[in-house]
Amino acid sequence: MNVAILVSGRGSNMAALLQAHSKGDLAVNPAVVFSNKPEAPALATARDFGIPVESIHHKTFSSRQDYDRAVIDCLSRYDVQGAVLAGYMRIVTPVFLDAFPKGVVNIHPSLLPSFRGVDGVQQAWDYGAKVVGCTVHFVNAEVDDGPIIVQKSIDVMPDETAAALGSRLLDIEHKAIVEGVNLWGEGRLSIVGRRVVVGSG
Ligand code: GRF
Repeated sequence: MNVAILVSGRGSNMAALLQAHSKGDLAVNPAVVFSNKPEAPALATARDFGIPVESIHHKTFSSRQDYDRAVIDCLSRYDVQGAVLAGYMRIVTPVFLDAFPKGVVNIHPSLLPSFRGVDGVQQAWDYGAKVVGCTVHFVNAEVDDGPIIVQKSIDVMPDETAAALGSRLLDIEHKAIVEGVNLWGEGRLSIVGRRVVVGSG
């Protein structure tokens, strides 16, 4: 399955996927990396991996739907059946979701359904959570809501800053996103109600 990886910034989760791909350890083919921010450092990293990159700035579009149509039009040249949102800081619309028959997968830095939205780690730290984590999930029409594929957690250390916690969690995210995308790419996932059931593929 060809997939697009969508990013907005640093791109460390994207890099984890491309690293796995370069070692032959990724069950999808990253056909293109797309950013809504042309200046995203992730694009240079993707180029270094030899992956085509595309970018359309969202600022010039008057609606999310119009923007998503432009993104789909751009990605259609790469024959992609699925998309991975790897630090893509845009809410996608049903227009976007309908364009990917194999689904859209996102990574969120919290144990959903806790701490949806931006700054999931900071939210959890401010709340005083003692365990934090990340979630790889299918995207549906609600924000940070779709069926859960993989979750991984770590204990919060006493006196640890939110920044240090976020940095430790990022390492866990890199494992979770590769694991989740591989289960998806291997065709092992079915959705029953809102539960993701993992089969043998
Ligand atoms: C990650 O924490 C991811 O979970 C969230 O945005 C951050 C992106 O980091 N959605 P990076 O660009 O992958 O380094």
